[in-house]
Parts: sequence; C-alpha cells; structure tokens
Amino acid sequence: MTVREVIRMGHPNLRVPAAPYPPENLGSAAFSELVTDMRETLHAYGGIGLAAPQIDVGLRIVVIEIENTSTRYGEIQHTPFEVYINPVITPLEDETAGYWEGCLSVPGMMGFVERPQHIRVDYLTPDGLDKSIEAHGFLATVFQHEFDHLDGTLYIDRIKDMSLLTFEEEFAQFHADIDAGDENGADESV
Ligand code: NI
Repeated sequence: MTVREVIRMGHPNLRVPAAPYPPENLGSAAFSELVTDMRETLHAYGGIGLAAPQIDVGLRIVVIEIENTSTRYGEIQHTPFEVYINPVITPLEDETAGYWEGCLSVPGMMGFVERPQHIRVDYLTPDGLDKSIEAHGFLATVFQHEFDHLDGTLYIDRIKDMSLLTFEEEFAQFHADIDAGDENGADESV
C-alpha cells in the first residue's frame, strides 16, 4: 500500500485523456495494487473521489467513497467505496443545478459549477461485470467531476461565472452562508 502523490493543476498529464482500462487485466496484481493505492491516497488526502490521472496514471479508473454524509447544505447520500472502470455518463434529464466543488488537484480553492442532476452511469466493476446505476443531485455532480478527469477536464473549465471561483478562506467568508435558491453545495474535494 502506497499513498501516491496527487498531481496538481498545471501538470500537463492532468489534461491528457486517459486510456480505457483493458478488461482482461482486471484480475492482475498490478490492478489490485493500483486500486489499493488509490483508496489509500483518497483517504490520506481526505477526498471523496479520485481519478487515476490525478496520481499520474492515464487509465479510465475512478474511486468514490462518501462517508461523511452531513454537510452545511444538507445530507449527501452515503456512498460506499466503489471502483468505476471505463465509466460512461448519460444525462437523463435536462435539469441542471449548481454546487460548490473542490478538487484535490486544485487545492485550496472552490468553484460553483452547474451540471445535469439526473444521470445514468455505465461502468465495469473490478469483477468484470457491467453495471448501470442512476445518480441524482450532489452525487451526480461528484460522478461528473470525477469522470471529467478521465477526459483531461477540470471543474474550473466548467465555471460559467468566474467570480464564483474562490479560495477556501474567501468561500467561508463571503459565499458559504449564501442561501440563494440556485446555490447548493458541499465543500468536499473530489
Ligand atoms: Ni477533482
């Protein structure tokens, strides 16, 4: 088990689309080691999601685990540790909503991003099974944020109003208590 270094915005490899993971390699020792390291790294950095490109591995693998389900904006669905291999997102409704997002690769900052709020996620499990799930609300945002990493996209690319990109201290001072109907969110890093 090794905690890997999370590479940060500015590292060119964060901007490179990742390659599909070969399903025939799922049972390999290298795969197990990578997933274990991703989980250790996620815990060490205190995040709720991590994409392989964030540890400079250009493969379409994401881990998500949401334990602390209570935020100042309400309850987030508890999401046990899961590995998502070669995931594909399909929006199921046009409706979007905005959340404050953070990212382990953009430490110390928060940004307000609007995304579709009802999606389907098709992916491969570590056992090689095809799985399909639906996600709503903040969890849908988490999936989209993570899977964007597989395409070399960061949340900052999706901010429409750049006045809503802030440092964490200024977020706490000026934005955290805003109760506008369209400002939801959770200050979790993914
Ligand atoms: Ni991120």
